[in-house]
Parts: sequence; structure tokens; C-alpha cells
Amino acid sequence: MQLLDGKALAGTIRNEICAEVAQIISNGQRPPKLVAVLVGNDGPSQTYVGAKEKDCSEVGFDSEVLRFSEEVSEAELMDTVERLNGDPQVDGFIVQLPLPSHMNDQRILEAIRPDKDVDGFHPENVGKMALGLEGFVPATPAGIVELLKRHAIDTEGKLCVVIGRSSIVGMPMALLMGKNAQPGNCTVVQTHSRTKDLKGICAQADILIAALGRPCFVGEEMVKDGAVVIDVGISRIEDTSRKSGFRLVGDVDFEAVANKCSYITPVPGGVGPMTRTALLQNTLQAYYRHQEK
Ligand code: GUN
Repeated sequence: MQLLDGKALAGTIRNEICAEVAQIISNGQRPPKLVAVLVGNDGPSQTYVGAKEKDCSEVGFDSEVLRFSEEVSEAELMDTVERLNGDPQVDGFIVQLPLPSHMNDQRILEAIRPDKDVDGFHPENVGKMALGLEGFVPATPAGIVELLKRHAIDTEGKLCVVIGRSSIVGMPMALLMGKNAQPGNCTVVQTHSRTKDLKGICAQADILIAALGRPCFVGEEMVKDGAVVIDVGISRIEDTSRKSGFRLVGDVDFEAVANKCSYITPVPGGVGPMTRTALLQNTLQAYYRHQEK
């Protein structure tokens, strides 16, 4: 079994981005800029946005976090989106989800200019991804594709089972693995909460991607010998042996499954860091596309 060390690879990619930014600066140009819009006090969202800010500063990007109270109106948030759309210094921006329940997430996401939508959530970018056209691919599936690519994992003709159909991970993941590309060219089965015989289907997978958000859901009986297992989940579970009182686990029961796999991502340190670098890669792409215009 080989660990797919996302943390180490993310470090390598960040160094590559750093070198590109140094080149940009030495050419006398401004660095790329990413803005994050954060509404309310959701704990995980604050952590994610803090991490994105830190990542930007590490690679030399400009970044900004625009914070709003839970009570901000949708109209005010829309004004901010419009301002960012029109700001030539901003290459890409994200509106951190979830938004408070009085807002229509989809309406906000659709107001983001597609060429600045580095999350890849706008329907234009989702459509482009489905058609294999150049756009932005959401960070988690993009990071997983990069992880497979840089480990030269052969996906051609393999059976890839994706557990989950969220618009952020499961749906785009299934599209990308089925594409005529490398990585890609898989026979893809997308499974979800209504799937019959989920265990039996997973047990046939050459590549199993778990993105359902249920801690330790994938057990030994669901994994074929020699499978590649990608664990997108990250949950806190109580652990009184730790000083913090908790530990992080994925959707895969790592201890039970690891010895059966040819490759497996750890949690933490697998998909998470790759997701973070994919957002930086998207922002760099947005920057270059804006420079070309
Ligand atoms: N909330 C959880 N993940 C994400 C993400 O990738 N982008 C945004 N905007 N919100 C999120």
C-alpha cells in the first residue's frame, strides 16, 4: 500500500506557484489576487477562509477577506459581488458556503462573473466542465485529479465508483473520471443514498472515491484488493485519549481498509491540502486569462 500524500504534493505545487509569482513580479506586474466573502460566524467556514488567506500569502498572491454579519441582506451581498465582478485588480473570488438561510445561494453564485468564479460553481463553468471546455473545475475534484496525475496512477478503462452526488464534489468528480483524458477514461458509476447494493458495487471498484460525509462509512468489505481509495470526508469524532478531545477521520475506515489498497489518501493530509492548492491554481489561471485580454 502506498499513501497518496496530499500534504507533500501540495507543498511541491505551492513551490511551483511561488516560482511563477516571482516571475510575474520580476516582469513588473502585479501578483494574482483572490478575495473571499464570508457571511456569519460558521466555525468551519471561518477556518477554511483563514486557511485560504494563509495559502495566498505563502505563494505571494494578494488576498482579502470581506466579512459580513449573519444579518446582511441579499441585496447588499449582491452589491459586493457586482463590485468584485467589476474590480480589475481582483482575478477571482469565492462566496463561502453555506450562506444564512434567508439567502438564495444559487442566485448569489450565478451573479459571480464566470471568468472570476474560481470555485467553478457557476452554471457556465459546470456546463463547460461537462463539455470538456476550458473553464474552472471545483477545487476538490480538481485536486484529486492532480493527485492521481502526479502519482501516474493508470485510470484508463478502470471501474471508478463515486459515492456521493453533491454539486461540489460527487457530480464533478464523476464527470471528470469519465472524460476522455488522462486521468480519466474510467467507466464511472455514481452512487448515492438511494443506490441498491452499494456495498456490492463499491467492492468491484478499481478506484473508489468516497464523498458522502459519513465518518468511517467505507469498511473492509467494500474495498477490492488492490483498489485505489480516495477519501474526501473529514469529520471530527470524540477521542478522549487526545488532548483536544477529538480526532479527524474520513469517510473511509482507514485502519480496516489500508492494507487492501494499492493507494489510499490519509485523513488529514490527503485530499484537503490538494483542494487548497487547486483553488490557488484556479486563481493563477484566472490571472493569466485576464492578462491575455
Ligand atoms: N464550503 C465548503 N467548501 C466550499 C468551497 O469549496 N467553496 C465555497 N465557496 N464554499 C465552500
